[in-house]
Amino acid sequence: MKYGYFDNGNKEYVITRPDVPAPWTNYLGTEKFCTVISQNAGGYSFYKSPEYNRVTKFRPNATFDRPGHYVYLRDDATGDYWSISWQPVAKSLDEAKYEVRHGLSYSKFACEYNGISAQKTLFVPIGEDAEIWDVVLKNTTDEVRTISAFSFVEFSFSHIQSDNQNHQMSLYSAGTSYEDGVIEYDLYYNTKEKEGYYYLASSFAPDSYDGQRDTFIGAYRDESNPIAVEKGRCSNHVQTCYNHCGSLHKQFTLQPGEEIRFNYILGIGKNEGQRLRQKYQDNAVVDAAFAEIKHHWESRCNKFKVTSPNEGLDTMINAWTLYQAETCVVWSRFASFIEVGGRTGLGYRDTAQDAISVPHSNPTMTRKRLVDLLRGQVKAGYGLHLFDPDWFDPDMADVEPSKSPTVVPTPSDADKIHGIDDTCSDDHLWLVPTICKYVTETGEESFLDEVIPYADGGDATVYDHMKAALDFSAEYVGQTGICKGLRADWNDCLNLGGGESAMVSFLHFWALQEFIQLAKYQGKTADVEKYTEMAANVREACETHLWDDEGGWYIRGLTKNGDKIGTAQQTEGRIHLESNTLAVLSGMASQDRGEQAMDAVDENLYSDYGLHLNAPSFSTPNDDIGFVTRVYQGVKENGAIFSHPNPWAWVAEAKLGRGDRAMKFYDALNPYNQNDMIETRMAEPYSYVQFIMGRDHQDHGRANHPWLTGTSGWAYFAVTNFILGVQTGFDGLTINPCIPTEWPGFEVTREWRGATYNINVTNPDHVSKGIKSITLNGQPVDGAIAPQADGSVNTVTVVMG
Ligand code: GLC
Repeated sequence: MKYGYFDNGNKEYVITRPDVPAPWTNYLGTEKFCTVISQNAGGYSFYKSPEYNRVTKFRPNATFDRPGHYVYLRDDATGDYWSISWQPVAKSLDEAKYEVRHGLSYSKFACEYNGISAQKTLFVPIGEDAEIWDVVLKNTTDEVRTISAFSFVEFSFSHIQSDNQNHQMSLYSAGTSYEDGVIEYDLYYNTKEKEGYYYLASSFAPDSYDGQRDTFIGAYRDESNPIAVEKGRCSNHVQTCYNHCGSLHKQFTLQPGEEIRFNYILGIGKNEGQRLRQKYQDNAVVDAAFAEIKHHWESRCNKFKVTSPNEGLDTMINAWTLYQAETCVVWSRFASFIEVGGRTGLGYRDTAQDAISVPHSNPTMTRKRLVDLLRGQVKAGYGLHLFDPDWFDPDMADVEPSKSPTVVPTPSDADKIHGIDDTCSDDHLWLVPTICKYVTETGEESFLDEVIPYADGGDATVYDHMKAALDFSAEYVGQTGICKGLRADWNDCLNLGGGESAMVSFLHFWALQEFIQLAKYQGKTADVEKYTEMAANVREACETHLWDDEGGWYIRGLTKNGDKIGTAQQTEGRIHLESNTLAVLSGMASQDRGEQAMDAVDENLYSDYGLHLNAPSFSTPNDDIGFVTRVYQGVKENGAIFSHPNPWAWVAEAKLGRGDRAMKFYDALNPYNQNDMIETRMAEPYSYVQFIMGRDHQDHGRANHPWLTGTSGWAYFAVTNFILGVQTGFDGLTINPCIPTEWPGFEVTREWRGATYNINVTNPDHVSKGIKSITLNGQPVDGAIAPQADGSVNTVTVVMG
């Protein structure tokens, strides 16, 4: 069953049936103001942090995705009313026709009903802390029509998300006022001029307004039948106290065939409503702001464009996967319909590895995130698994805390910095390859010499921060020399403490390989020697203690008692994805062991929806292994298809040279390929999800937790760098694809350091891997392509064989 299709020309997903089985969301905003919005216009806005500057309300975990950013229309001749988005009024789909277009940072809602064609486009203009609702109404009948439009948005109770559930203070210390087409919501106790005021404005002069939610909706009613809309007029009611909304109403008379256009603006800041209301009176200004959003994404997507025989891959890589990866990097991983802002800050590993995918499209944000992370690292080398970037930002040191009684508490230094027991054993290691990727992408070698403080005092160059990370993992090893598991490794639910994690040692090895290349390039001979020796020790420990001969795969680790996890002898948790994929991805496994391990992955973990994380699922609680043994079978980290490590498998297969297998794994997880199976998948087909129910669960195939997953970044990184094989390195740009044998070739356009490379790859012998020749502008190339002149357009011809 399907509910829509990809419109690649516009980089939009078009929902043709709004009654999808779960909310299908999109993200509006590219800087500080963000809205998470569903195909029903349900959702919420926040400014910078979904936890601390919450602008509009949302009720999570309900059967409805409400409230939202709604426009109601009312036929004033009959009293019949509807909403431009299907919900909340929900006209019968036999009578009304709806279409939703989720684009990159905008969503368009269209509705045909009762002879009125209506459209509402939501987006956040670049440079504004506000969301525009651009509304167009057209009378498609040959009669004069009188139509009333009403906005509705429910302001957040408080600027703090959790107060929406349990804080009575804000019930009595916030209020709305009305002046000249603007409802301003004043969080009286929050004295800041920016974060203390929200507003809803209209480009028209309203006929009536409501700032009180309960007056607009009415007692024992809900968003589907507000009393104000039913009556055809708001009560002009604003006041202090209680729950607040923004409803601005106007009646329009539409001649046959006439079209009118107006807008609403939702935003923050004292008096900003009036300013923006004036600015966006002119539709040409609205059009220019929308064009800027289109251009913003066009220029990012243009940095890497592919045309291959796999349409699903092209669709996702050229738009959606990059867009999702940027969403995770820009907004962190705490704002969706599942995570609704209960936490704030940065997850160390999530941020460090999300950032690896976007240095080409968003170098500014990548650099910022790297600095945030380096400031969140302690002298001993590990990262703070969750931290607020403001805590360690010197620019924030002088900012006076709000005088509000509900001030967001700033923890003491002792509370900010956790000890070893609370440390995730992998967090800091992701930083090393990400920094290397940033430097090879931008050429900003001086970044390595920048001095950045540690979270617990002292400072070091970026290069030395990297060494501290590698040294920490060399020091914190267990009895066999494998890295300790500590609080958790990449797998949040594998809590090994003093036990040992194979996954972390393989990751350590990968980080070492990347660092050694960097040290060589920088001519740091002593470091090359030291870290080459460290890598040899890691290899020795791994190959001696982690290979399971009977299974023909790598185990997952050891408990603190020395019991192995993930051997052929076991009946549950027998084989795991992370250790086997990283053993190959890191470059440690030999071709022979690598092939055996990945064959075992294919045999034991593959399903049509992607690779399971482990199999069979654990069913016996075992606290030496961790919380994973207490999660239901087939769910999340316990035997689900956990999406994020799937791309590690594509990289592993690409490194082994098995392009058919890499593509088989890629295709299985690709949401695009599940567009016709929504009755099983349920989640949106344009976003990777955190996990898909595994075969040990009755809902096998159901996709959960969309958008906020490291899968997007890694899927993008794996496909562009390893399957299509276009990589930046210290020596230049290299091209070494690993593709399905049936592919006759593919094309990539890559912008790198100001020059464009039109890369044409042909595969006349139908191999998976291997290069016969490369030419740059007709000249043979030996090795990497050096950066070409700024602004130049270059032709690269690659023949595989
Ligand atoms: C979630 C977390 C991520 C973790 C993964 C596996 O996606 O955000 O940090 O690695 O779960 O436990």
